[in-house]
Amino acid sequence: LILNILSFSGRRKGEPPLVSHALPFIGAAIDFGKDPLNYLKNLQSKHGDVFTIKLAGWDYHVFMNPLDVRSLERAKFLGHQEIIGDFVTRMVGNPHKIHSHDFIPELHTADGKSKKTLSPGAEVQKKLTHSIEKNLRGSMQLNSLCESCKPGIKLHDFCKRVIFDITFNLLFGSLPDYDESCKETSRMYDVFKLYFKRSALLVDRIPIHLLPETKKARTEFLKLMEGIEWSKRENVSRLIQDIVDVNPKLEFLQQRARHLLVVLWAAQANTTPAFFWILFYLLSNPDAKRAVMEEYEQLKRHKHRNKQVKERGNDGWPTMQDILGIKRKDLDRLVILDGCLKETMRLTGASLSVRKASREEKIKTVDGRMFSIRKGDYTAYFASVTHMDEEIFENPQDFVHDRFLVSADEPRSRFSKHGQRVAVSRAIMTFGFGATRCPGRHIAMIEIKLAVLALLRHFDVRFANPNEKTPEFDLSHLGFGVMPPATDIDVLVSLKQ
Ligand code: HEM
Repeated sequence: LILNILSFSGRRKGEPPLVSHALPFIGAAIDFGKDPLNYLKNLQSKHGDVFTIKLAGWDYHVFMNPLDVRSLERAKFLGHQEIIGDFVTRMVGNPHKIHSHDFIPELHTADGKSKKTLSPGAEVQKKLTHSIEKNLRGSMQLNSLCESCKPGIKLHDFCKRVIFDITFNLLFGSLPDYDESCKETSRMYDVFKLYFKRSALLVDRIPIHLLPETKKARTEFLKLMEGIEWSKRENVSRLIQDIVDVNPKLEFLQQRARHLLVVLWAAQANTTPAFFWILFYLLSNPDAKRAVMEEYEQLKRHKHRNKQVKERGNDGWPTMQDILGIKRKDLDRLVILDGCLKETMRLTGASLSVRKASREEKIKTVDGRMFSIRKGDYTAYFASVTHMDEEIFENPQDFVHDRFLVSADEPRSRFSKHGQRVAVSRAIMTFGFGATRCPGRHIAMIEIKLAVLALLRHFDVRFANPNEKTPEFDLSHLGFGVMPPATDIDVLVSLKQ
């Protein structure tokens, strides 16, 4: 209480109202962690669209009006590099000297054209189809042989494996021998998943010695990374090759391994739950699934007009020639699938975009007020505030598969607030906003779309429990991007007849 009174007395003119907290140092962390959106909305009703909360001793100026995102986006004095640096340091355990933004632009230009960019070329499609086969064949055979076994597969577990396979090989390339490459990816995954399970707690400042399993897995994974023989690998992405080429000294090897772990973490942490949720929503909404698949069949008919595509191999397993042949421009034509993925990102995205002020400045909100921000303070915008805004989205809790679908004669966004148009890039903020938006967003969307098509085109997938309920969100990943499901669900998978 005394600290709160002191901080109140230290307030300057023009600063946003400060919320008082029962536990001054911990501040809003506990309430925010339990039910973030309602907690912030309650504060908004008391304090208005901009207010300050304390988190771990720091002042966070929270903005609640989606129309103010434009001012945050344009404010050059607000940066995120230091925040990402702190985040990464906590995850990998050491100051992260080589986290450089020089590597980032490559991810932005994932257009599938330039060899230099990280683009999901044919290799990834091959890995994707192999990964689906690897992860389904065994369990489907088991289900058909064993009557007493519980039928089906765990959907989230399956998504984790598939996205890890694609991501690892997209970034790190692969060993030339296919079997060796599969074994390597499985070994990496087994260790990585143990580290990943509680890695969010590290970011929340839980010391790693309290998480012995995470610590052991991290040490083991870093050793595996240090041991990779890069000259023996094929199709290593330029992003990773650049990191690898910098300096081969021993100290660097350890730093490099940490950097690689971070990139891998970022590349699959959100892609996996996003893949899970789009599958979940499509399975729960037969009309949406039908529309997606019809759109794809139409594209295929158009593409393969004069060609005969062999659908099944000699063993009856799908060849997936169609998936292997999908180009970026084909995906761009699949606007229904794109709309479903956007809707998924809206419903499940809970990114907290935090920026740090590099100098004392003022920020103007749409209602014409000016707020003073001190050097070193943070601003925060929580994506769900926009995603669940009833003025922007009708029935925001519902999955509406054609919400983002616009016809050629309509404006690109039909969303608005207080009479002002809200662009789609601001209406969905799961990838963050502005210049610091996630650089891997194009790759992520492409990977997920390909994976959805590969699975739903060639397999019948349905809930083992026809009355399956929507799983709760796992709030331990709150603020990072897409919230994973708190529980897994069983699905039944069979080859399409
Ligand atoms: C659905 C999938 C994904 C989501 C929702 C997502 C979300 C995010 C968010 C919210 C940020 C922070 C942006 C900010 O501070 O404003 C971020 C940063 C980042 N993401 Fe993603 N991401 C996804 C997939 C990927 C993929 C596939 C890659 C790499 C191939 C990737 C690489 C990165 C990197 C390197 C950063 C740090 C950028 C920096 O240091 O400025 N992400 N992502």
